[in-house]
Parts: sequence; C-alpha cells; structure tokens
Amino acid sequence: MTRLEGKIAMITGAAQGMGESHARRFVAEGAKVVITDLNEEKGMALASELGENVLFVKQNVTKAEDWEVVVAKAEEKFGPVNILVNNAGITMAKSILQTTEEEYRRIVDINQVSVFLGMKTVIPSMQKAGGGSIINISSINGIVGGAIGYTDTKFAVRGITKAAAMECSNYGIRVNSVHPGVIATPMVVQEDTKAAVDEFAKHIPLKRVAQPEEVTNIVLYLASDESSYSTGSEFIVDGGLTAM
Ligand SMILES: NC(=O)c1ccc[n+]([C@@H]2O[C@H](COP(=O)([O-])OP(=O)(O)OC[C@H]3O[C@@H](n4cnc5c(N)ncnc54)[C@H](O)[C@@H]3O)[C@@H](O)[C@H]2O)c1
Repeated sequence: MTRLEGKIAMITGAAQGMGESHARRFVAEGAKVVITDLNEEKGMALASELGENVLFVKQNVTKAEDWEVVVAKAEEKFGPVNILVNNAGITMAKSILQTTEEEYRRIVDINQVSVFLGMKTVIPSMQKAGGGSIINISSINGIVGGAIGYTDTKFAVRGITKAAAMECSNYGIRVNSVHPGVIATPMVVQEDTKAAVDEFAKHIPLKRVAQPEEVTNIVLYLASDESSYSTGSEFIVDGGLTAM
C-alpha cells in the first residue's frame, strides 16, 4: 500500500471520527502525517499508536498563529507539506431565532475561516514542495439546505474551494471539496441520537449511514496523484441522498 509514498500530509480535527480514519489510511499508504486537534489527549494517543511517521500538534484551527506553528513543526520534522485535509468542524442544530450572534460567529470561524487560514498558511509550504493537493471537507449541506450556520459555512467551503482552485492552478496545487452524507462518527452518532439516525437511515437510497472509511477512500484518491486532473470539483459520498 504505497499510494502516498513520499508525501507529507496534514489533517485537522484528526483525533477522532473521519479525520482519525484518514490519518490511519494515509499512514498505511506510506505518507508522513501531521495530525492536529483541540483534543490533546486523543490526538497524542492516536499519534503514539500510529508510530514514528505521525506527529500530533495541538491546534485551534481558528487561530492564525496556531497554523504557523503547525506548518513550522511539520517542515522541521518531515519537510514541506504536499497534502492538506481541512477536516475539523462542528455542527449546530438550532433555528435562526434560537441562534445567538456569538454562536453564529463561532461556527463561521471553525467551519469556514479555518479553511481560509489553513490554505493561506500551507500554500507556501506546498510551493516549496513543488505542488500539492488540498481537500476541503464540506457536507451535503454544501449542496442542499440544512441547519442554519452549518449549511451556510459548508456552502462557503464549496465556494472557497473553487476560488482557490483557480488561483492554485498557477502553483501546481489542486483544490477539491468532499461532501459526506450521514457518517457514523461521534459528531452524529451519540447515545441520545442513535435511534433518530437509524430511523433517518431508512430514507437514504442505500438504506444505511456510512462508515468513516468510505469517505476516506475518496479523500485518499484526492490526496494521491491518481486524481491529477481533478481540481475545483465536488466529490459527494452520500449513499444517494442528494440524488432524491
Ligand atoms: N459525520 C457526518 O455525518 C458529517 C457529514 C458531513 C460532513 N461532516 C464534516 O466532516 C468533518 C469531520 O466530522 P466528524 O464527523 O469526523 O466530526 P467529529 O466531531 O467526530 O470530529 C471533529 C474533530 O474536530 C475537532 N475540532 C473541533 N473544533 C476544532 C477546532 N476549533 N480546532 C481544531 N480541532 C477542532 C474535534 O475536537 C474533533 O476531534 C467536519 O468538518 C464535519 O462538518 C461530517
């Protein structure tokens, strides 16, 4: 398994859920991987389990200074970065009338501004590396409407991906967005949500939610040179939900 041999990757929000799944597979495919998260305990545990080709750095993706530190540490340990997966994100399930300005600004910061900061900081490292691939994790709510705050920011991720793809084509860097449907991660499946998720799954054309590894397969393809002619595009992994 060497689809990412010689590549240096950075994955945000990788202490659990889909980010963790991407990190496990990237390492198995030969990459050196920097994983970041706010959750230091889980991030450190994953890095020590995965071994010497993984570095954990605690990071708040909304902070420009944290991005500078992560890139410096990545370059120091492994070299210039080839792959960035902007994965960290939060969800919010409130109505417009219930949502405070503070809550709204928080989700915009975490889901949207972080993607701008990540690309701005990592692109110079990719230029040193001679090119790269940026994968921005949006959602099917970047394609069709859902909750306030989440939908808006995930549409923004889809939009910034297209703007960045046009600019970055001048630097040998490809930029694409991934749009998962309902995926079995701690964000969605908790004790108190499990019954509702199972009920919702009956209405998905493939009649089930997905496992994180099924999204990782697309992310891996985009990270690898196999996707050499794809940039500025949307990659949907939703069991047919948006086809309905
Ligand atoms: N699970 C789904 O059904 C689903 C569907 C569509 C899109 N997504 C998107 O996929 C991505 C990953 O989701 P997941 O389901 O694995 O979520 P998750 O909640 O399981 O994991 C997200 C990780 O991001 C980290 N994080 C949150 N805020 C952060 C911050 N400010 N700085 C650094 N790290 C931070 C969390 O600590 C956590 O480890 C998110 O962008 C999410 O919006 C998820």
